[in-house]
Amino acid sequence: MESVQATKQRFGIIGNDPKLNRGIEKAIQVAPTDISVLVTGESGVGKESIPKIIHSLSHRKHGKYIAVNCGAIPEGTIDSELFGHEKGAFTGATQTRSGYFEVADGGTIFLDEVGELPLTTQVRLLRVLENGEFIKVGSSKVQKTNVRIVAATNVNMFEAIKKEKFREDLYYRLSTIEILLPPLRERKGDIHLLFRKFASDFALKYKMPTIRLSDEAVLLLEKYHWSGNIRQLRNIAEQVSVLEQNRLISPQVLQGYLPNIGSNLPAVVSSNKSDSDFSNEREILYKVLFDMKSDLNDLKKLTMELMQSGNSQQVQKDNESLIQKIYGDPVEVDKVTYEEPVNHTPEILQIPSSQEYTIKKEDDKYHFAEEIQEEETLSLQDKELELIKKSLERHKGKRKAAAEELGISERTLYRKIKQYNL
Ligand SMILES: Nc1ncnc2c1ncn2[C@@H]1O[C@H](COP(=O)(O)OP(=O)(O)OP(=O)(O)O)[C@@H](O)[C@H]1O
Ligand SMILES: [Mg+2]
Repeated sequence: MESVQATKQRFGIIGNDPKLNRGIEKAIQVAPTDISVLVTGESGVGKESIPKIIHSLSHRKHGKYIAVNCGAIPEGTIDSELFGHEKGAFTGATQTRSGYFEVADGGTIFLDEVGELPLTTQVRLLRVLENGEFIKVGSSKVQKTNVRIVAATNVNMFEAIKKEKFREDLYYRLSTIEILLPPLRERKGDIHLLFRKFASDFALKYKMPTIRLSDEAVLLLEKYHWSGNIRQLRNIAEQVSVLEQNRLISPQVLQGYLPNIGSNLPAVVSSNKSDSDFSNEREILYKVLFDMKSDLNDLKKLTMELMQSGNSQQVQKDNESLIQKIYGDPVEVDKVTYEEPVNHTPEILQIPSSQEYTIKKEDDKYHFAEEIQEEETLSLQDKELELIKKSLERHKGKRKAAAEELGISERTLYRKIKQYNL
């Protein structure tokens, strides 16, 4: 029997995780039999290699191997695709056609996304699995075929059964042996290995030096949630390989490529969140980012005034009108309704989401703000502090009125009061 290592090498499978190895070992063991196999696991975990392993290690290896993506074939034509049709069976059926089950006689059919099969097709499939019999669409003649089935799904089949979208009898028939491929986040030891492999592949492909991760960047990679699993990891390795000039990647740079919907978020995300929790949190983050963006715009305007006026004395003199100019723009942050995380700004800045990354790239204003000399920023802060103080004094400490006058939200004002220890 071929060893797990040899199989991995043959099929380009990277990783040494025990669960992955067990999955491959099961595929090797079951290959010589005709037993149906169901491969399960999240999207992007590498399910597609398993049926290939099974086919090529079986006595069917010289027969046909047909991979069918059940989710991609329209419901109206899937029976005809799989089982064929008779001439005149439906409009457009000008000729008799053989389906995959006839063509793959003596071989293997991989039914990817099997959970997407319509119920009527499931009935036909069950029959083929039970006695090798099928009937072409529009025919009454029973035909025989000898096909080995490997199916795959990334949906929870028990749920599909409960919702009556998938036949329970078919599920048990398909999953005589189940091979579960673990998600990447449960294969932490493989993450850097995979990244290095992809990085070197892309370096070769794009004729650039290979990117390397700093030790901290590796830790970040291992902490990340990887909801898109290996597909996502490869994607990110490609982006970083193509876009980064400095080939030694710091965690800060890497973070810019990792969407913030994983376990490496600040306190707001824990590992057992539902999809809706994630989208709520994402919304909050978007709002925080928009808030920051409008703060940056405020700062930019203030700087512009400072630069145009030539000196800060002049600005001070023009205080009143300047307030209008600086904070005159409508600031959207009033819509934010979550609890104020005080002093959150620096942390958030260090964990840019892909969305923020987009903002950075698209918004020239951001770059402008970035280019402000530190010195100017400091005096800028003095001015801001002064303006806030004055406004608060004028309104006898009433934050609502002061915020209104300053043209910022109460929440932003509250944050600034904290920030400046007023
Ligand atoms: N262990 C691995 N080593 C190297 N590449 C891998 C590994 N696992 C997966 N890949 C690569 O990751 C990509 C995604 O894998 P695959 O298409 O098999 O995912 P899948 O489980 O079928 O996902 P889906 O359910 O979305 O179809 C492929 O390009 C595959 O080559
Ligand atoms: Mg797939």
